[in-house]
Amino acid sequence: MSDRVAANESVKFSKHVIAWQRRAGRHHLPWQNTADPYRIWLSEIMLQQTQVAAVIPYFEQFVARFPTIAGLAEAPEDAVLAEWSGLGYYARARNLHRAAREIMERHQGSFPNRFEDILSLPGVGRSTAGAIAVFAFDQRFPILDGNVKRVLARCFAIDGYPGSSAVGNRLWALADNLLPDHDVQAYTQGLMDLGAQVCIRSRPKCSECPLSGQCIARIQDRVKALPAARPKKERPRRSTVMLILESDGEIMLEKRSAPGIWGGLWSFPEIDAIGDAAQACQHRFGVAVQSADLMAPLEHGFTHFSLNISPLRCRVIQRDTRVEAPGRMWVQPCSALTCAIPVPVRKLVAQLRTAQDD
Ligand code: ADE
Ligand code: SF4
Repeated sequence: MSDRVAANESVKFSKHVIAWQRRAGRHHLPWQNTADPYRIWLSEIMLQQTQVAAVIPYFEQFVARFPTIAGLAEAPEDAVLAEWSGLGYYARARNLHRAAREIMERHQGSFPNRFEDILSLPGVGRSTAGAIAVFAFDQRFPILDGNVKRVLARCFAIDGYPGSSAVGNRLWALADNLLPDHDVQAYTQGLMDLGAQVCIRSRPKCSECPLSGQCIARIQDRVKALPAARPKKERPRRSTVMLILESDGEIMLEKRSAPGIWGGLWSFPEIDAIGDAAQACQHRFGVAVQSADLMAPLEHGFTHFSLNISPLRCRVIQRDTRVEAPGRMWVQPCSALTCAIPVPVRKLVAQLRTAQDD
C-alpha cells in the first residue's frame, strides 16, 4: 500500500497545524525568536531525550556558561559534562563538544547551513538536522521525532511499531509528503507542540485538536491502539555494588573511562559482590575498612538494560598521607554535587548529605 496522501488532505493537514500553532502553540521558549544556530542546535540536542520543562533551566545555564561555539570547543570535556550533569544520556554532551570542535576546524567557527553538513555533525540525526535547518536557516526539511511519529501514526492510521525501520521509513515518506511549501517554521513547531501538548501518549486531547476532522484514528476509534507498542522484550537486569568510601567527611570518586556507561563521569568505585569490599578497599585503594553499612538499593534504567545498585557505605582509615591517584579524588559531598556525576550517584550523595546534616 502506498502512503501517498491526497494533495488536498496534505494541504488541509499543514494548514490546520500552522493555524493552530499560531493560535495555541508555544512562542516563548528560550530557543525561539532567534536564528542563532548555536542556541537552536543546543536546544534540539537537549530536547532529543528530555522534555521541555526539564530542559529550560539546563539550557539557560549552559548558554550562560558557554555562550559561543568557540567557548564550548575550548572548554575541557569535564566542564561540559559537569554542566550536563543531571540531564542524562551523556553521549549527547560528548557529541556536542566534539561537534563544536569540528565546527571550529572544518567550518571556520560558523555553524554549517547545508543540510548534509548539519547531518554529519556528531549527535545530529535526520530529524534534528531537519529541525535545525528549519529553525536556524528557514529551509524546507521534514522532522520526525518520537512525538511527531505518534501524531502521524494516529492521524494516518499507520500500523506497526514506529521504532521499526519499516514503519519508520513509511513515516518519513509521509512526513516528507505532508511538508507545506510555506511557513515551514510554524508548521514544524506546530507538529512538535501538538505532539507534546495535545496528541499526547495517553488520553490525547482530541477535542482540542486541529486535526480531529481528518484523523483516521479518531474517526475509526483506534486512538488507544495507535501507535502500536514496542514488541515486548524484557530488558536484561544487571547488578553492581557501589563503594562509598568515607574518610574525614570526604568521599572518594573515580573517573569512569570512555567508552562505556557514564564514560567521563565521576562515580563511586564498583565491585561485583558485597563480600569483596574489604579486600577491594585494601588492594585497590590502600584503605582499611572500619565499618560498612548497606544502604537501600537503587534501580537505574538504561535503554538496553536495567541496573540494580547496592550502595555500601564504608568508613575507612587511610594509612598514608593521601596520594591522589590520577582519575581519583576525595571530595566533600557538597562539592561532589557540582561535578559531572551520574543521576543515581547524585541521589546517593544527596542522601549522604541529609544523613550528615541530622
Ligand atoms: N522538541 C524538540 N524540539 C523542540 C522545539 N524546538 N520546541 C519544543 N519542543 C521540541
Ligand atoms: Fe491525536 Fe486525537 Fe488529534 Fe488524532 S485527533 S491527531 S489522535 S489528538
